[in-house]
Amino acid sequence: RCCDPENTKKKFKEIIRTAPRNSDWTAFTDLFQYEGFWHSPRFLEGTLLAQELFQARPCDIILCSAPKTGTTWLKALTFAIMNRALCLDDSKNPLLLATPHECVPYLEVDIFQNKPNRYPDSPLLATHLSFDSLPNSVVDSDCKLVYICRDPKDVFVSLWHFIGNVRAKEEGYLFPLEKAFELFCQGASLNGPYWDHVLGYWKASLEFPKKILFLKYEDLKRETEFYLERLAEFVGHPFSASERREGAVEKIMQLCSFQNLSKLEVNKTGEYAIFSSVVVENSKYFRKGEVGDWKNCLTGEMKDRIDGITEEKLRGSGLTF
Ligand code: A3P
Repeated sequence: RCCDPENTKKKFKEIIRTAPRNSDWTAFTDLFQYEGFWHSPRFLEGTLLAQELFQARPCDIILCSAPKTGTTWLKALTFAIMNRALCLDDSKNPLLLATPHECVPYLEVDIFQNKPNRYPDSPLLATHLSFDSLPNSVVDSDCKLVYICRDPKDVFVSLWHFIGNVRAKEEGYLFPLEKAFELFCQGASLNGPYWDHVLGYWKASLEFPKKILFLKYEDLKRETEFYLERLAEFVGHPFSASERREGAVEKIMQLCSFQNLSKLEVNKTGEYAIFSSVVVENSKYFRKGEVGDWKNCLTGEMKDRIDGITEEKLRGSGLTF
């Protein structure tokens, strides 16, 4: 890794010039392979800056995920847990007025790309980086990581809709399903290969269970209360008996539910600029929020192919979907 901040730009240019490049996501972005994972150029530049400059503090909580695995939900839940007094007061609750992405900035996007940060001192950050690409200080310090993953079939379907919708000139345009599927299976998707991303954090969570909380979207859906309590404890803000009696756990669950967040005005009509040139409607982060929607999109053959890759990649790891 580059040791001098002055070299970061040079290194970025060099990677863009020489790294394996995939231009097949034509309607979306070219992807560049760096440290085994595929990145859009802007994310890649932010990654290099983060690797170079980010100094994690022991109090930091970093929410880690591959895209489309439930990042928005995890951001909302963790933000609400850590800013409980604010979020349980309807007159002040930031989650009623801003998308969770504005409340919890991305390490490789927001922090080093001169964007105003709503909460400059907040210990809460998010990243799509793979475990091995995290800045050294994240691994070396006592900060904590929460990782969320999801059934690869639902991740793919969610990604396919998202990519189509974000870049669509006409509402409803979708990138060809078969082509997107092939790219996803080959690992050439945003922050892919998806399976390697999951495995990196899974193995690290087994090695450092006090540092990394590993969550699955499906578990969070099925037993939201249980995992919300676990998350609160892990980030050092457990619910007290009196908070429980007063319904704080249920209120946060309800506040961050798909049904509630997706119908808020800010999430129906607002926009969030990932970069100045990439503005995404907040509604694109709230599609269906269900487990198993892949059944409406994938053929039996596609299901078998993804399940086969999952089985092969995760074999022996102790992780299943
Ligand atoms: P679907 O496209 O399957 O509906 P990410 O936040 O990582 O981009 O993931 C987006 C996925 O999470 C989308 O899945 C979206 O609908 C779902 N999602 C967003 N908010 C959610 C919430 N509060 N509860 C459950 N799922 C949510």
